[in-house]
Amino acid sequence: MADPARTPLGIGGLDEMLDGGLVTGSIALVQGAPGTGKTTAGMQFLHDGAKNHDEAGLLVTFEEFPHTLYRDALAHGWNLRDLEQEGLLRVVFTSPQVFMASLQSPTSPINEAIREMGVRRAVVDSVTQFQSITRDPVDLRAHYNHMINGLRRERITSLLLSEDSGPDLVRGDRGRLSFVVDSVILLRYVEIDSVMQRAVAVLKTRGSDHDKSIRRFEIERGGLVVREPFRGRAGLLSGVPRRTG
Ligand SMILES: Nc1ncnc2c1ncn2[C@@H]1O[C@H](COP(=O)(O)OP(=O)(O)O)[C@@H](O)[C@H]1O
Ligand SMILES: [Mg+2]
Repeated sequence: MADPARTPLGIGGLDEMLDGGLVTGSIALVQGAPGTGKTTAGMQFLHDGAKNHDEAGLLVTFEEFPHTLYRDALAHGWNLRDLEQEGLLRVVFTSPQVFMASLQSPTSPINEAIREMGVRRAVVDSVTQFQSITRDPVDLRAHYNHMINGLRRERITSLLLSEDSGPDLVRGDRGRLSFVVDSVILLRYVEIDSVMQRAVAVLKTRGSDHDKSIRRFEIERGGLVVREPFRGRAGLLSGVPRRTG
């Protein structure tokens, strides 16, 4: 079988771990505690699509206020308003309730953007907020599936950002989202010799191999930069690594 087409994230080092990027049209979950870099990674992915691949993007946010989001993006050198003007980006500030309802309506701003702009990349920040719609895990799963099926149908390569973290990844995942997505990317803080560092790991990719190492990354102007694997440490994903060998 031919290798599936890839959509790079535009995050150096991470694309390498993913063997070139996400499979085009697939859905990835990006999990991490607050401040680990999820929103930054999402903006970087959309900016890369617009600037380097002429691919329109959709950012649905339940988390940020417009002025905060545009300002934070500018600090990285990403002018989201310009991209919106050029028809390469649509930022939608909404609530999970309105978002879910809008998926049903062909005339909603989101479906209009998907249709008119030919959206190829999407980021939902964050799916954790769906827990405000319902406390029933079965119901929650239905909402996730509805959204994911919509994205898959349109073959939109998507990052779903999730605040669920901790070692108890699976049990904490009430809607079992990690089972229905194609890839899981984990962002974590780790403490090494009393210094906090950032670590990234790819936990799963469907239908392709991936780098199983845990790598160090930094956030700089321009976004995430993924560097070499951590060596000689075990238990990194627990956040409290110990030295090996
Ligand atoms: N211009 C910048 N240069 C360096 N680091 C930055 C810059 N902007 C934000 N950061 C860092 O990025 C982190 C915020 O990441 P963010 O993507 O908002 O996290 P999350 O969405 O996971 O909560 C903060 O820890 C901050 O230190
Ligand atoms: Mg965020």
